[in-house]
This record gives sequence, C-alpha cells and structure tokens, in this order.
Amino acid sequence: MTEVVDTSTVLQVSDLSITFASKRGRVSALEGIDLDVQAGEFITIAGPSGCGKSTLLKAVAGLTAPSGGSVHLRGDPVTGPRQDIGFVFQRAALLEWRNVRGNILLQAEMRGMNMRKAQERTDELIEMTGLSGFERALPHELSGGMQQRVSLCRALLHEPRVLLMDEPFGALDALTRERMNVEFNRIWSQTGTSVLLVTHSVAEAVYLASRVVVMSPRPGRIIEEHVVDLPARRDYAETLESSEFHRVSSRVRELLGSPSDAD
Ligand SMILES: Nc1ncnc2c1ncn2[C@@H]1O[C@H](COP(=O)(O)OP(=O)(O)OP(=O)(O)O)[C@@H](O)[C@H]1O
Ligand SMILES: [Mg+2]
Repeated sequence: MTEVVDTSTVLQVSDLSITFASKRGRVSALEGIDLDVQAGEFITIAGPSGCGKSTLLKAVAGLTAPSGGSVHLRGDPVTGPRQDIGFVFQRAALLEWRNVRGNILLQAEMRGMNMRKAQERTDELIEMTGLSGFERALPHELSGGMQQRVSLCRALLHEPRVLLMDEPFGALDALTRERMNVEFNRIWSQTGTSVLLVTHSVAEAVYLASRVVVMSPRPGRIIEEHVVDLPARRDYAETLESSEFHRVSSRVRELLGSPSDAD
C-alpha cells in the first residue's frame, strides 16, 4: 500500500506518552498527546507548571524517548537529535568568551556547516534581529533582550524546519518581552519556520500563535486548541484590542484558572 504523505504536515505527534521512573516511583508526565503541525504554523503551548510542556518539546527534539506513541518529523520517526530542529531555552546560554558572531557561528561549527554560507546567513540574521553594530560585543556587554536575540539567531542559523522555544522570553522584563514578541512575530513571518513555543503568559501565547494549545495538569494532555484567526503579521496594540484576541485569551485564562497574566 502506498502511503500518501501530506508534505505540508511538518510534525506529527501521535498518542505520545512519557513516563519517568525515579526513586520516588513512576511519574506520568504526558498522556495521549496528538498534535499535527503544518509548515509555517506558530503553535504556542500553555499549561500549569509541571504539566509536561518541556518534556513535550524534548520529545519532539529527540532528547527524550517516548514511552508510548510516536513523533514524526517530515514523515520520519524522531529517534535522536535532529539536524532540522532548532531549540531556544529560557536563558540565552551563550558562551561568555565568544562575541555575538562567535556565539551564532557555534551552531555552524557543531553541525559542520559550510562556513562561508554560515557567515553570510549570520550577517542576515544579525541585521534581521537588529544586532548590527554589536557583532564583536561579548555577552556581558549586551542586555538580556539582546542576548536572547543572539540565541535566536543561533537557533535559526541552520534554517531549521521546526523551531522549539521553551519560555524563551520568560527572563525578560515586561517591556522588553513585548518588544521581543513584536520582533519575533516579524522574524517568523519572514522565515516560514514552524514554531512550537511554551509560555506562561496568556497574552504572549495568543499574540504570537496561529494556534494555541492548552494542556491539563499532570499527566499532561491537550485539553483544547484554539486557532487565532488573525493575519500572520500583527501589530501589537491592534491585536491586543481585537475581539479575536479577547475571545481566545479569555478562554485560555478560563482553562488555566488564571485571573490575569501572572508573568
Ligand atoms: N528527567 C526527568 N526525570 C524524572 N521526572 C521528570 C524528568 N523531567 C521531567 N520530569 C517530571 O515530569 C513532569 C513534567 O515536567 P516538565 O518539566 O515537562 O513540566 P513543565 O510543564 O515544563 O513545567 P514548568 O512550566 O514548570 O517548566 C514533572 O512532574 C517533572 O517532575
Ligand atoms: Mg518547563
């Protein structure tokens, strides 16, 4: 039988469950997760602390093995770390002794990319993220937001099909975070990368997403998904005032039991 592969589906998570065994017994972190991600989709994942959001991203990245179910990336089962995935962590995780360019190019060195191409792409990304003029600056000479932009450039350098982001803006102050949201919305709309982003901020989840996924407390399951019916490129103030933004964010808040954006 010939299987028809839908090329627009980049990521397929099917009936994924993950159980951890520890000295205190077994912890069921994820149960029955089904999630299909299309090319260019921006999925945000919201859910209470400990519900398995980071575990889900790690399973997609091939860093944590499923206990049941499967993860497929462009039709291939994910069995270990992959070339076509980028990962951005909560903290920028930059090498203190390397300047901005050196930190971004680390990705190329680790993956054995063509260095000339990587240099060109680095220049484009530095320009795109507004880091021009800081190419030779060391991490301690940068603000938190700038460090996070370097980390974003590094994750985008090899042009991953899927970008995984685990609370990437969580350590930033509210204003910088808003600016990063706006910048990242622009960057995403220019790259066509599919994104899975975990956040505790409902506003961030709804502003950035083409689809918001809400998870239950442990064991994490997907309880609801909401498509955000707004254009890909979004003005911040306009979006936050829109009825669509209000519709989705009030439902997400209701599901999470949060009266306001706690972050
Ligand atoms: N390597 C591990 N070994 C044992 N238990 C683990 C491991 N990683 C995660 N867990 C457990 O799995 C559950 C889910 O953890 P996870 O880090 O995915 O939650 P989370 O939703 O990302 O939480 P937070 O919002 O606080 O970051 C937790 O109960 C955690 O203790
Ligand atoms: Mg986490």
